Amino acid sequence: MVDTQPLSKPHVKQYKILRCIVNNIEVEAMIDVRLSLADLMRDHLRLTSVKKGCEVGECGSCTVLIDGEAFNSCIYLAVWAEGKRILTVEGLIGPQGELSPIQQAFIDEGAIQCGFCTPGFVLTGHEIIEANRPFTDDELRKKLSGHLCRCTGYENIFNAVKKTMLKNLALQHMKKHHIPVINVEDIPQHLIAQEKMADTCSPEQPKEVPILSHSHHNEPSSHTHTKR
Ligand code: FES
Ligand code: FES
Repeated sequence: MVDTQPLSKPHVKQYKILRCIVNNIEVEAMIDVRLSLADLMRDHLRLTSVKKGCEVGECGSCTVLIDGEAFNSCIYLAVWAEGKRILTVEGLIGPQGELSPIQQAFIDEGAIQCGFCTPGFVLTGHEIIEANRPFTDDELRKKLSGHLCRCTGYENIFNAVKKTMLKNLALQHMKKHHIPVINVEDIPQHLIAQEKMADTCSPEQPKEVPILSHSHHNEPSSHTHTKR
């Protein structure tokens, strides 16, 4: 006699209330526990700067900052974001619609082609700049290596991130020494070079930005973030 019982129980959905802060706005939502953070951002909150490319944690186009660190949101469950602060590119825009320095740098350096990878790169760039310390060229490349640009615009992207980092460091230096800055574009180049700290940033680097490894946080380990 044929056993007509199903092999497993019918699928049961589970829901949970999630509370977190997205782009400085408190969010409370009833979500399916299997929902990815990328889908929460795009489908529920309409934050469509978060792109879905590979959806397996390989390309970095879904990057968001969680408590200031870059994560691939396609493989990060939304429920893990409980109580955390999430930043997307929409949250970088100023109150009058002004672009953040890293966004402006991408435009100035011609670091955008089709733009699909851009939000992810911009957020990792923002994380680098917010660290307020100089990164060597190798460190920058490692930081950016979690992103794939299908248009292969890596050199301009690298330049945009590096220039913004150096400009920010020079700005911090001037503030610290009470040197008035009227316009960030007026920062003397020698101060930018000074902040570059020749001993930490190697002068000779290969032209291309090799994609050696994926340095993104892909998923939290027991909800603990591991530093890169
Ligand atoms: S969509 Fe490619 S890493 Fe998330
Ligand atoms: S600009 Fe097209 S994928 Fe990077």
